[in-house]
Amino acid sequence: MSSGGFVIRLAEPRDALACAALTLQDDRECGATIEPGFLDRYAEAWLGDSARVTFVAEAPDGRPLGMVTAAVVTKLPSSRRPRTRWLHVSLLFVTRDARGSGLGGQLLAALHVWALEHDVDRMQLNAEPQARSLYERAGFTSPAGKFMEWRANAT
Ligand SMILES: CC(C)(COP(=O)(O)OP(=O)(O)OC[C@H]1O[C@@H](n2cnc3c(N)ncnc32)[C@H](O)[C@@H]1OP(=O)(O)O)[C@@H](O)C(=O)NCCC(=O)NCCS
Repeated sequence: MSSGGFVIRLAEPRDALACAALTLQDDRECGATIEPGFLDRYAEAWLGDSARVTFVAEAPDGRPLGMVTAAVVTKLPSSRRPRTRWLHVSLLFVTRDARGSGLGGQLLAALHVWALEHDVDRMQLNAEPQARSLYERAGFTSPAGKFMEWRANAT
Protein backbone atom coordinates (compact mmCIF):
# COMPACT_ATOMS: atom_id res chain seq x y z
CA MET A 1 0.00 0.00 0.00
CA SER A 2 1.46 3.39 -0.93
CA SER A 3 0.08 6.91 -0.53
CA GLY A 4 1.03 10.34 0.75
CA GLY A 5 4.76 9.74 0.28
CA PHE A 6 4.96 6.61 2.40
CA VAL A 7 4.64 2.87 1.95
CA ILE A 8 2.85 0.45 4.27
CA ARG A 9 3.93 -3.17 3.99
CA LEU A 10 4.02 -6.41 5.95
CA ALA A 11 7.18 -6.48 8.06
CA GLU A 12 9.92 -8.93 7.15
CA PRO A 13 12.82 -10.31 9.23
CA ARG A 14 15.07 -7.48 7.97
CA ASP A 15 12.72 -5.04 9.78
CA ALA A 16 13.46 -6.44 13.24
CA LEU A 17 15.77 -3.63 14.32
CA ALA A 18 13.52 -0.93 12.82
CA CYS A 19 10.59 -2.32 14.83
CA ALA A 20 12.80 -2.38 17.92
CA ALA A 21 13.78 1.26 17.35
CA LEU A 22 10.16 2.36 16.87
CA THR A 23 9.14 0.52 20.04
CA LEU A 24 12.04 2.15 21.89
CA GLN A 25 10.79 5.58 20.76
CA ASP A 26 7.30 4.77 22.03
CA ASP A 27 8.68 3.59 25.40
CA ARG A 28 10.83 6.71 25.66
CA GLU A 29 7.83 8.97 24.91
CA CYS A 30 6.00 7.22 27.73
CA GLY A 31 8.86 8.11 30.08
CA ALA A 32 10.38 4.65 30.37
CA THR A 33 14.07 4.17 31.07
CA ILE A 34 15.62 2.15 28.24
CA GLU A 35 17.90 -0.60 29.50
CA PRO A 36 21.16 -1.42 27.65
CA GLY A 37 20.72 -4.10 25.01
CA PHE A 38 17.02 -3.36 24.50
CA LEU A 39 17.23 -3.23 20.69
CA ASP A 40 18.89 -6.64 20.41
CA ARG A 41 16.56 -8.21 22.97
CA TYR A 42 13.48 -6.88 21.21
CA ALA A 43 14.71 -7.90 17.75
CA GLU A 44 15.47 -11.43 18.93
CA ALA A 45 12.08 -11.83 20.61
CA TRP A 46 10.23 -10.34 17.61
CA LEU A 47 12.07 -12.63 15.17
CA GLY A 48 11.29 -15.65 17.32
CA ASP A 49 7.58 -14.91 17.61
CA SER A 50 5.90 -16.72 14.74
CA ALA A 51 2.39 -15.95 16.04
CA ARG A 52 2.66 -12.23 15.33
CA VAL A 53 1.74 -9.94 12.47
CA THR A 54 3.43 -6.56 11.99
CA PHE A 55 3.01 -3.84 9.40
CA VAL A 56 5.56 -1.07 8.99
CA ALA A 57 5.24 2.34 7.36
CA GLU A 58 8.30 3.82 5.72
CA ALA A 59 9.30 6.98 3.90
CA PRO A 60 10.44 6.80 0.24
CA ASP A 61 14.07 6.77 1.49
CA GLY A 62 13.34 3.71 3.67
CA ARG A 63 13.18 5.58 6.99
CA PRO A 64 10.75 3.81 9.38
CA LEU A 65 7.79 6.06 10.18
CA GLY A 66 5.52 3.76 12.13
CA MET A 67 4.32 0.28 12.89
CA VAL A 68 1.42 -1.76 14.15
CA THR A 69 2.01 -5.17 15.67
CA ALA A 70 -0.41 -7.78 16.95
CA ALA A 71 -0.26 -11.21 18.54
CA VAL A 72 -2.26 -13.80 16.60
CA VAL A 73 -4.25 -16.12 18.85
CA THR A 74 -5.56 -19.24 17.11
CA LYS A 75 -8.49 -20.99 18.79
CA LEU A 76 -8.23 -24.73 19.40
CA PRO A 77 -10.56 -26.95 17.37
CA SER A 78 -14.12 -26.99 18.71
CA SER A 79 -17.22 -28.86 17.57
CA ARG A 80 -19.34 -25.88 18.50
CA ARG A 81 -17.50 -23.09 16.69
CA PRO A 82 -15.46 -22.68 13.52
CA ARG A 83 -11.68 -22.57 14.01
CA THR A 84 -10.96 -18.87 13.91
CA ARG A 85 -8.30 -16.52 15.22
CA TRP A 86 -8.20 -13.19 16.97
CA LEU A 87 -5.61 -10.46 17.30
CA HIS A 88 -4.32 -8.58 20.30
CA VAL A 89 -2.87 -5.32 18.98
CA SER A 90 0.07 -4.61 21.27
CA LEU A 91 1.51 -1.48 19.64
CA LEU A 92 0.48 1.22 17.20
CA PHE A 93 3.12 3.91 16.85
CA VAL A 94 3.93 6.70 14.39
CA THR A 95 7.00 8.94 14.76
CA ARG A 96 6.19 12.46 15.92
CA ASP A 97 7.15 14.13 12.63
CA ALA A 98 4.81 11.87 10.64
CA ARG A 99 1.68 12.16 12.80
CA GLY A 100 -1.62 13.70 11.77
CA SER A 101 -1.41 12.62 8.11
CA GLY A 102 -3.47 9.46 8.38
CA LEU A 103 -0.58 7.05 8.81
CA GLY A 104 -1.95 5.53 12.04
CA GLY A 105 -5.32 4.97 10.37
CA GLN A 106 -3.69 3.37 7.33
CA LEU A 107 -1.62 1.00 9.48
CA LEU A 108 -4.86 -0.12 11.15
CA ALA A 109 -6.52 -0.46 7.73
CA ALA A 110 -3.66 -2.71 6.54
CA LEU A 111 -4.10 -4.89 9.62
CA HIS A 112 -7.84 -4.98 8.98
CA VAL A 113 -7.32 -6.29 5.42
CA TRP A 114 -4.83 -8.90 6.69
CA ALA A 115 -7.36 -9.99 9.34
CA LEU A 116 -10.12 -10.48 6.77
CA GLU A 117 -7.76 -12.57 4.63
CA HIS A 118 -6.60 -14.78 7.53
CA ASP A 119 -9.78 -15.98 9.29
CA VAL A 120 -9.47 -13.40 12.05
CA ASP A 121 -12.87 -12.64 13.53
CA ARG A 122 -11.87 -10.20 16.29
CA MET A 123 -9.21 -7.66 17.24
CA GLN A 124 -8.69 -6.20 20.68
CA LEU A 125 -6.46 -3.51 22.17
CA ASN A 126 -6.08 -1.17 25.11
CA ALA A 127 -6.66 2.37 23.83
CA GLU A 128 -5.10 5.52 25.22
CA PRO A 129 -7.88 8.12 25.62
CA GLN A 130 -6.26 10.43 23.01
CA ALA A 131 -6.36 7.64 20.42
CA ARG A 132 -9.98 6.57 20.88
CA SER A 133 -11.29 8.61 17.92
CA LEU A 134 -8.70 6.94 15.67
CA TYR A 135 -9.81 3.47 16.73
CA GLU A 136 -13.49 4.37 16.47
CA ARG A 137 -12.93 5.54 12.89
CA ALA A 138 -11.29 2.15 12.24
CA GLY A 139 -14.43 0.37 13.48
CA PHE A 140 -13.41 -0.49 17.07
CA THR A 141 -16.04 -0.33 19.81
CA SER A 142 -15.74 -0.77 23.58
CA PRO A 143 -16.16 -4.35 24.77
CA ALA A 144 -19.16 -5.24 26.86
CA GLY A 145 -21.30 -8.27 27.58
CA LYS A 146 -19.27 -11.38 28.37
CA PHE A 147 -15.84 -9.72 28.34
CA MET A 148 -13.96 -10.09 31.67
CA GLU A 149 -10.29 -9.79 32.58
CA TRP A 150 -7.85 -10.40 35.43
CA ARG A 151 -4.99 -8.01 36.16
CA ALA A 152 -2.11 -8.49 38.55
CA ASN A 153 -1.79 -5.56 41.00
CA ALA A 154 -5.31 -4.35 40.21
CA THR A 155 -6.24 -3.58 43.80
C1 LIG B 1 -1.77 7.17 17.91
C2 LIG B 1 -0.88 7.45 16.72
C3 LIG B 1 -0.33 6.13 16.17
C4 LIG B 1 -1.71 8.10 15.60
O1 LIG B 1 -0.89 8.24 14.45
P1 LIG B 1 -1.29 9.28 13.30
O2 LIG B 1 -0.52 8.94 12.08
O3 LIG B 1 -1.17 10.67 13.79
O4 LIG B 1 -2.84 8.90 13.10
P2 LIG B 1 -3.91 9.51 12.11
O5 LIG B 1 -3.35 10.73 11.43
O6 LIG B 1 -4.41 8.41 11.26
O7 LIG B 1 -5.07 9.90 13.11
C5 LIG B 1 -4.91 10.94 14.07
C6 LIG B 1 -5.52 10.45 15.36
O8 LIG B 1 -4.51 10.06 16.29
C7 LIG B 1 -5.00 10.25 17.63
N1 LIG B 1 -4.04 11.08 18.35
C8 LIG B 1 -3.73 12.37 18.16
N2 LIG B 1 -2.78 12.75 19.02
C9 LIG B 1 -2.47 11.67 19.78
C10 LIG B 1 -1.54 11.43 20.84
N3 LIG B 1 -0.75 12.39 21.32
N4 LIG B 1 -1.50 10.20 21.38
C11 LIG B 1 -2.28 9.20 20.93
N5 LIG B 1 -3.18 9.38 19.90
C12 LIG B 1 -3.26 10.61 19.35
C13 LIG B 1 -6.36 10.88 17.51
O9 LIG B 1 -7.31 9.82 17.57
C14 LIG B 1 -6.32 11.47 16.12
O10 LIG B 1 -7.59 11.55 15.58
P3 LIG B 1 -8.39 12.95 15.62
O11 LIG B 1 -7.65 13.82 14.68
O12 LIG B 1 -9.77 12.59 15.19
O13 LIG B 1 -8.31 13.43 17.05
C15 LIG B 1 0.29 8.43 17.07
O14 LIG B 1 -0.26 9.62 17.60
C16 LIG B 1 1.24 7.83 18.10
O15 LIG B 1 2.11 7.04 17.75
N6 LIG B 1 1.08 8.22 19.36
C17 LIG B 1 1.96 7.74 20.44
C18 LIG B 1 1.68 6.27 20.73
C19 LIG B 1 0.22 6.01 21.05
O16 LIG B 1 -0.44 6.77 21.75
N7 LIG B 1 -0.29 4.89 20.47
C20 LIG B 1 -1.67 4.50 20.69
C21 LIG B 1 -1.80 3.78 21.96
S1 LIG B 1 -3.44 3.19 22.21
